[in-house]
Amino acid sequence: MTRYCVIGAGPAGLATLKTMLDEGHDVDCFEKSDAIGGHWNHDYDALHLITSRDVTGYEGFPMPQEYPLFPHRDHMLDYFHRFADAFDLKGRITFNTAVESVVPLPTDGPIGSAGWRVTTSDGAVRDYDGVLVANGHLWDPKIPDIPGEFTGTQVHSGSYRNTGDIDGKRVLVIGSGNSGCDLAVDAAQQHFDTHIVIRRGHFFQPKTFFGRPRSELAFLTEFTPEEQDLIARLMMRLKVGTHDDYPGMPEPDHGTLAEGPPIVNDLLLYWIQHGRITVRPGIERFDGHTVHFADGTSDEFDTILWATGFHASLPFLDESLLQRRDGIPLRVGAAVVPLDLEKLYLIGMIGARGPQPPIYPIQAQIAAKMIAMHESSAGGFRPLAGPLTSSQEHEWRIDILRHIWLEQVDRTHDALRLLSHVPA
Ligand SMILES: Cc1cc2nc3c(=O)[nH]c(=O)nc-3n(C[C@H](O)[C@H](O)[C@H](O)COP(=O)(O)OP(=O)(O)OC[C@H]3O[C@@H](n4cnc5c(N)ncnc54)[C@H](O)[C@@H]3O)c2cc1C
Ligand SMILES: NC(=O)c1ccc[n+]([C@@H]2O[C@H](COP(=O)([O-])OP(=O)(O)OC[C@H]3O[C@@H](n4cnc5c(N)ncnc54)[C@H](OP(=O)(O)O)[C@@H]3O)[C@@H](O)[C@H]2O)c1
Repeated sequence: MTRYCVIGAGPAGLATLKTMLDEGHDVDCFEKSDAIGGHWNHDYDALHLITSRDVTGYEGFPMPQEYPLFPHRDHMLDYFHRFADAFDLKGRITFNTAVESVVPLPTDGPIGSAGWRVTTSDGAVRDYDGVLVANGHLWDPKIPDIPGEFTGTQVHSGSYRNTGDIDGKRVLVIGSGNSGCDLAVDAAQQHFDTHIVIRRGHFFQPKTFFGRPRSELAFLTEFTPEEQDLIARLMMRLKVGTHDDYPGMPEPDHGTLAEGPPIVNDLLLYWIQHGRITVRPGIERFDGHTVHFADGTSDEFDTILWATGFHASLPFLDESLLQRRDGIPLRVGAAVVPLDLEKLYLIGMIGARGPQPPIYPIQAQIAAKMIAMHESSAGGFRPLAGPLTSSQEHEWRIDILRHIWLEQVDRTHDALRLLSHVPA
C-alpha cells in the first residue's frame, strides 16, 4: 500500500491534504504547532490582506461576504478553520509533531525514486512513497550583516506583534517590503517617532482604484499584462504622484510595476506627507544606539524593527540535495519539483503575484498527477523530476508574475502528458 506524507498544516498544507484525500491516498500530515493556519496564528495585530476578499480564497470555497473587502489576519485564520472543518481535515493531522528529517531511501536509481524516510519529533521513523513539503517560506528571519553593533531593542517582523514590542520612542524600520510598510505605519499611528530605511525606490501601489480592488477592475482584463502595468502606473500617477512628492523617497530604479517588488500600501505615503514617518537611506554601520546612514547622517534609535524578509528554508532536508540560486531552491514543474529529486514535492515555495491560497491546490494537483503516474508504473516509479529538470527552465524566483507562473503550470501539464506516453 502506498503512503504519503504532508509537512505542515498551514494554507498550503491544508490544500495539499485535501487534494491528496480527494485522490483517495493514504496520507499522514504532520504539523509542528498545535493548530492549523500557519503564520496567520501569530502575525502582527495590524495585518490586513493586500489581496481582496473575493479573490483570496481557494477556488470553489470563497471567503464569506461578511468579511471586509480587505480581511484582517483573524478573518484569514477563521477562513482556514472553516476550510479545514468543511472538509474534515483537522482529524487527519498529527499536531505538535515536527518533521525533523527527510532522507531518500537507498536506491541505485534517481534520488527519491524509492521513496523517502521521514523522522518526526516524537522519534517515529516512517517510510513514504512521496513527501509533499508545505512548511512555508516566510518564517526563517533574514537579518543582513551590517558593520558594528546596535545595542537597543531589535525585533524581526516575523515575531513583531504590536507596538507593545517597541521600547522607547524612536523606532527605525529597516526594509520597505509589505512588512516594513505595515510596521512603519503601525508605529506612526501610535505616535512613535518613526523612520524607515528605503534603500531603493518602489512604486507604492494603492489597494484600490475607483474604490475597487485593483485586481477586480473588469476593464483592465481587456488589456495585455504590459498594458495593464502601464494603465496602473498612469492611475497611480494621478492618485499618489511620484517619489518627488515624498521627502527622502528614492526614485525607482525600474520603469514598470513588473520589474519591481509588489508593494501595496496607501498609508505609508500618507504618513510620510504628515511628517510622522521619515524616509532614510541604507545603513552604513551601527554604534550602540546610533545608526549611521549612507548619506552621512546619523541618529539615535531605541528600537529597530527588521523587516528584511525571510530565508526559504527546508531544515529537514540535507542541503547537498538542493541547488540554490540567491538562496532560493531551484525548481521546475511550476515550482513544485526541486531539481532532480523524485517523489518530493514543494507546495507553496512560490509567490506568484496576487492571492496565494488559489496557488496551492494547483500545485498540489501537479504533485497528485505525478504521484498517479508513479503509481501506475511497474515498480511504482517512472522518471519525472529528471526529465522536467532537463527540459524546463530552472525557476529561481519566489516573486514571479502570475501569468508567467500560470504558463509554467500549463507547460508542466503538457510535459507530464507527453511523459505519460513514454514507456516506464
Ligand atoms: C505578513 C504576511 C502577509 C501576507 N499577506 C498576504 C495577502 O494579503 N494575500 C495573500 O494571498 N497572501 C499573503 N501572504 C502570503 C502567505 O504566506 C500565504 O498566504 C500563506 O500563509 C503561506 O502558507 P504556507 O502554508 O505555505 O506557510 P505557513 O503559513 O508558514 O504554514 C506552514 C506550516 O507548516 C508548519 N511547519 C513548518 N515546518 C514544519 C515541520 N518541520 N514539521 C511540521 N510542520 C511544520 C508550520 O508550523 C506552519 O503551520 C502574506 C504573508 C505574510 C508573512
Ligand atoms: N499586508 C500584507 O498583505 C503583507 C504584509 C507583509 C508581508 N506580506 C508578504 O510577505 C512576503 C514577505 O514580505 P516582507 O516585506 O517581509 O519581505 P520582503 O518582501 O523580502 O522585503 C524585504 C525588504 O527588506 C529590505 N532589505 C533587505 N536587506 C536590507 C538592508 N541591508 N538594508 C535595508 N533594507 C534591506 C529589502 O530592500 P531591497 O528591495 O532594497 O532589497 C526589502 O525592502 C511578501 O510576499 C509580502 O507581499 C504581505
